[in-house]
Amino acid sequence: MVKFANRIQPCDNGLNDIFTYANDPALISFAAGYPNNQLFPRAALQTAFNASLTERCNLQYSTAAGLPSLRAKIAQHISTAQRQFTAEQILLTQGAQQGLDLTAKLLLNPGDGVVVEAPTYLGALSAFDAYQPTYYEVPLIADGMDLNALQKILLTHTVKFIYTIPDFQNPTGCTLSLAKRHALLRLAQRYDVIILEDNPYRELRFSGTPLPSLASLDTTNHVISLGSFSKILSPGLRLGWLVAAPELLEPLTALKLGNDVQSSTLVMNAVDHYLTTYDIKAHINAMNRAYAKKMTVMLTALARYLPATVAFTKPCGGFFVYLTLPAEIDTGQLLKQVILRDAKVAYVPSASLFPVSHQANGIRLNFTNLANETIELGVKRLGQILTQTLHQKHYAKL
Ligand SMILES: Cc1ncc(COP(=O)(O)O)c(C=O)c1O
Repeated sequence: MVKFANRIQPCDNGLNDIFTYANDPALISFAAGYPNNQLFPRAALQTAFNASLTERCNLQYSTAAGLPSLRAKIAQHISTAQRQFTAEQILLTQGAQQGLDLTAKLLLNPGDGVVVEAPTYLGALSAFDAYQPTYYEVPLIADGMDLNALQKILLTHTVKFIYTIPDFQNPTGCTLSLAKRHALLRLAQRYDVIILEDNPYRELRFSGTPLPSLASLDTTNHVISLGSFSKILSPGLRLGWLVAAPELLEPLTALKLGNDVQSSTLVMNAVDHYLTTYDIKAHINAMNRAYAKKMTVMLTALARYLPATVAFTKPCGGFFVYLTLPAEIDTGQLLKQVILRDAKVAYVPSASLFPVSHQANGIRLNFTNLANETIELGVKRLGQILTQTLHQKHYAKL
């Protein structure tokens, strides 16, 4: 009998279910957070990969930090009036997901404190869990983390890092306000805590004015910031980036070397070629127009079909809308016992998105990878079954 390491816990956090639902043609799945299949720039990527293989790529090992010319382009892409970044501040990763793992690996001993937004991104919890942290949940309100609650935690507990998704948060779609960005940085400085900023949805804004990233406002090297090509080009590339001060970037780069040596030379070269030859901002704008429409279809259908006892967020971008049902409802049980069978609709139930409180009355809905008519139909079916179920007196037993 093989004995796993103590840190490996039996895990059924629902991640596998998400992929199962996404692949079931009988279901309308709002569960996965996939970009739209039709919107990948296939022809451009094909040209970029061809060029990468024939002209540029030496097919040899390179450095753990990643292709310098691509790091320079990313630095330019994320630079703002507030702050200019350089290639030396950037480590290329296998998606933002690897940045989550590397940061936790660098900073956490078993039992160390990690603050997360509640609810938060399930994949981040999967990455952090391996390092056995003690989680502290900070409630999310419309303009981001409840900073009073955060301060109470920082006053009474030792925390290694604060994990936040400031733009179009997964799963709620909430965005941290500008005032709170400044206040969060002040707290990080006062209590000398690292902020892990995870920002894969940052450029997917459908309305309102873009806000500066935490990294761009950070003057004291308290922020590790993650970006990704997954949602703006393709998740299949497995390419993202991490921005940090040299004293953090050096050990993180060493950890990446031990982890996977480097990101794929072929992919790094192809994306570098793509960014030289094509206008990624125009591509993102086109995606935003399509996603904005899909979100409007979803919000309109939610307003029309959901019972009044169900609240929902109204994001300005990103991939997700979050529903809050009456507190006594367990949306996981509801999904398995009623919704999958009667509505033929799937979603992500909230319990596993709260690592401490396991609040079960939330639902994450994704709108990006479905046709507009399918979104309308799926919300209609979900709304009808929720209306029936919530009206039944016995729903509290679900
Ligand atoms: C908040 C958040 N962080 C990180 C990731 C992982 O992204 P990547 O594909 O870049 O690893 C996701 C993917 O859905 C996400 O939603």
